Amino acid sequence: MKKFRRIGILTSGGDAPGMNAGVRAATRLALREGIQVMGIYGGYAGLVNDDMRLIKNPHDVSNIIALGGTMLYTDRCLEFKTPEGMAKALETCRKNKIDGIIAIGGDGTFRGATDLSVHGIPTIGVPATIDNDITSTEYAIGFDTAMNTVVQMVDRLRDTCESHARCNVVEVMGRHAGFIAVNTALAVGAVAVAMKEFPFDEKACIESIKALKANGKREFIVIVAEGVENYAEGLRERIQEQTGVESKFARLAHVQRGGNPTLTDRVFAAQACEKAVEELLLGNSDLVVCQHNNVIETMNIGYALKLDRMFKGKITDEEIKSLTPEELENMKARCAETLARMKAKYDLVYKIK
Ligand code: F6P
Repeated sequence: MKKFRRIGILTSGGDAPGMNAGVRAATRLALREGIQVMGIYGGYAGLVNDDMRLIKNPHDVSNIIALGGTMLYTDRCLEFKTPEGMAKALETCRKNKIDGIIAIGGDGTFRGATDLSVHGIPTIGVPATIDNDITSTEYAIGFDTAMNTVVQMVDRLRDTCESHARCNVVEVMGRHAGFIAVNTALAVGAVAVAMKEFPFDEKACIESIKALKANGKREFIVIVAEGVENYAEGLRERIQEQTGVESKFARLAHVQRGGNPTLTDRVFAAQACEKAVEELLLGNSDLVVCQHNNVIETMNIGYALKLDRMFKGKITDEEIKSLTPEELENMKARCAETLARMKAKYDLVYKIK
């Protein structure tokens, strides 16, 4: 089994509250094993540009557990995806004696992690994205905090909607998936939610606002996932025109990405990073940590990325052909399970509006 002397930790892609809690956990767990830790700055850009610093003392990661953002900073590094960029990254690893990496981030981060693994640097991914749109895992660092931020913001909007008898159409993040949208719609008591996984019945939404208004309701919240592009502002206009309810639009945008991580994000970050350190030290590589049925486990990154593309309808025929019949069945079942969970929440929004 490989003897690790020094590992690197990086955060990459969109930041997510709880990344710092993960960096803290991974650092301290590695230091406990007598392994040195290199903090790599700016995600894969830090590997390409040799931007890193040894974290020698457990105290160096004190007081970051409660902070949003990431003390290691983050970036989306295009150069790393080129052969020249990879060559520079490998040279940085060699020069700095990094013999394993923990990469905290989303699917782009895992593509980088698999590339490093293939080039001989054992790498384990830890899921972190507020969108929670990584199909291999039920949970990713940052999701709970972001949703709680949405709930707080929309509760404020509802106060003023109630006073003025208004509707507010709120666009929440989720470029590729409606997990934030469907959960927050349920949590704020929205009258409707639009997300690209399911067809949105705009006519029914408008009719239901009219009926609820006739029954005495004064405030109306409609949640739209960012993935339903160029839709939310137009919807606001049509709701106002066709229901006579004055309507406002709010795009919550990057406010959802900041803030102190919730308990759920801190706990998951610690447990997921514990798994990542354990797997690395066992000599494993090219894995992503996942939560399935509340158990923290791992999945091969290539498999996880294909599963994700299947869920998002982006898997190619070539990729499907590369799967065994059993893998294909398992992936389809996993996608169906994820969609069914989402659909149950989606239906519930409409049942209890
Ligand atoms: O972190 C995911 C996400 O928040 C998406 O929902 C959003 O579209 C995107 O990141 C925006 O990120 P950035 O502005 O950093 O490119």
